[in-house]
Amino acid sequence: MINILILPGDGIGPEITNQAIKIIKSCIFYGYKINLIYNYIGGVSIDKFKTPLSENVIKICLNIDVILLGCVGGYKWINSPIKPEEGLLKIRKKLNLFANIRPIKCPFKNIDFLIIRELNGGIYYGKPKGISKQIINNIPTWYGYDTEIYNEQEIIRLLKLSFNLSLNRKKKITSIDKANVLYSSKLWRKILNYISKNYKNISVNNLYIDYATIELIKNYKKFDIIVTSNIFGDIISDQCSLLTGSLGMLPSISINNKSICLFEPCHGSAPDIAGKDIANPIGILLSLVMMFEYTLNNKILSNKLFYSIYKILSYGFCTIDMKKYFFNSKIISTNEFGDLVNYYFIYD
Ligand code: IPM
Ligand code: MN
Repeated sequence: MINILILPGDGIGPEITNQAIKIIKSCIFYGYKINLIYNYIGGVSIDKFKTPLSENVIKICLNIDVILLGCVGGYKWINSPIKPEEGLLKIRKKLNLFANIRPIKCPFKNIDFLIIRELNGGIYYGKPKGISKQIINNIPTWYGYDTEIYNEQEIIRLLKLSFNLSLNRKKKITSIDKANVLYSSKLWRKILNYISKNYKNISVNNLYIDYATIELIKNYKKFDIIVTSNIFGDIISDQCSLLTGSLGMLPSISINNKSICLFEPCHGSAPDIAGKDIANPIGILLSLVMMFEYTLNNKILSNKLFYSIYKILSYGFCTIDMKKYFFNSKIISTNEFGDLVNYYFIYD
């Protein structure tokens, strides 16, 4: 029995998650017994329990095989003192999900590289952070501050994971930082240099984040594994999503040292299109592809789902956000897309 916790979240979260659930339920045809548990995260959890992530959900997470998350946030909570996004940061931290793998892959364009984003440290969590008041030039003045900070252990565990993943790929790692300015990056490079001595057959390259954004557009084919900090990983993954199509297509897996994995698309909750049945479900469906591969260790199902998704696109169907890439395609709804993928997943 595989226990899956579903946290649809806010905005388009429930409608895209529903497409993933169709596929999960179809796994019964492939001999799997699956138990689905539903709960809340983000704004819907604030509305219900006054917290974006309840202790109850954390408890469930600690005893579950897999977590599938939609997305969080929305206009409704813009002025709320507690933000839906805090639920996401909390679940990542509480479950020790220190690495976030975001594959940039498109069979149409022959693109295939991984962004490995640090997910438990850096400026997202660094202390001190806050908004305070201070007298500056004799005037009481507000200031906001965050701290970009990494310790040796956080860097080592992420880099080791990256090197180990690289052994099964092209043995090529690019680390992206800002070591010409930031001390956290200087330490990062030093440790990278040290660890790389244990992996002599893996080539290692360093890029500064500003120049990396150019290389990622101009020479994206030369990357295989990119490893970077929490904030840089957040930014470049959105940028790279355009290489494969749209932001709606990017999946991710977050992992810790135990067996708990969290799967979620990289995109936000898109409150402007929520409830209209037009959102692109590919991000969460590709997250499921990763779940089949990494958690169920079932490469056959993982490939089957991956090619079912791309089959629909190549047969000339897409959601409205992809229209600019597939001019002649027919625009279909979120649910229609999910149904078609599910059909090919079962019968093809
Ligand atoms: C992401 C998102 C989140 C992040 C937000 C919603 C807190 O942008 O997963 O990339 O910044 O990590
Ligand atoms: Mn992001």
